[in-house]
Amino acid sequence: PILIVLLCFSAYLAGSVLFALPVCRLWHLPDPRAQGSGNPGATNVYRAGGWRPALVTLALDAFKGWLPVWLTHLAGLSILVQAMVALCAVTGHMIPLFYRFKGGKGVATALGAGLALAPVTTFIMAAIWLIFMWRWRISAVASLVAIISGPIISALIEPDTLPLFGLLALLIVVRHRNNLIRLAQGRETGL
Ligand code: G3P
Repeated sequence: PILIVLLCFSAYLAGSVLFALPVCRLWHLPDPRAQGSGNPGATNVYRAGGWRPALVTLALDAFKGWLPVWLTHLAGLSILVQAMVALCAVTGHMIPLFYRFKGGKGVATALGAGLALAPVTTFIMAAIWLIFMWRWRISAVASLVAIISGPIISALIEPDTLPLFGLLALLIVVRHRNNLIRLAQGRETGL
């Protein structure tokens, strides 16, 4: 049990590192929290500085979700514990200890955690994200459709992970509430 608590806390701490901020500093870009959508995530880094810093942000935010779940897997702990660790990493990104609990929307971190725990489901979700992104170029729409597809796809392919994808969908949809309001008003900016 102590190992589980340690892993969960470490995952939360890893999630709490918002990579959009150091990446923007490195690229001499303004703080993503003060421009665009105000979200410290890859999409908003793209708005500020293009695809290179955005891809680096995406990769690092995904990595911090992937690593703790993978370590939990290596430790031989159950899918349930791995799912708890995944949720802790995503929660860290959403309500980070290091930034007064004001974080991002958790999509990239969920991508990394999902790849470690349920790769087939997550690949399909990523493909859905890409298709919607390619067609409509609104990141929030692509993220929402992909994350809502998660529970359905996992139920069919990797049913052990259905509770995780259900909770991830719930958390991530809630974090997109401002995007949903803007979409309903036709004011969402997309990329
Ligand atoms: O992953 C976040 C994305 O879905 C929305 O980001 O900056 O458009 O609010 P943003």
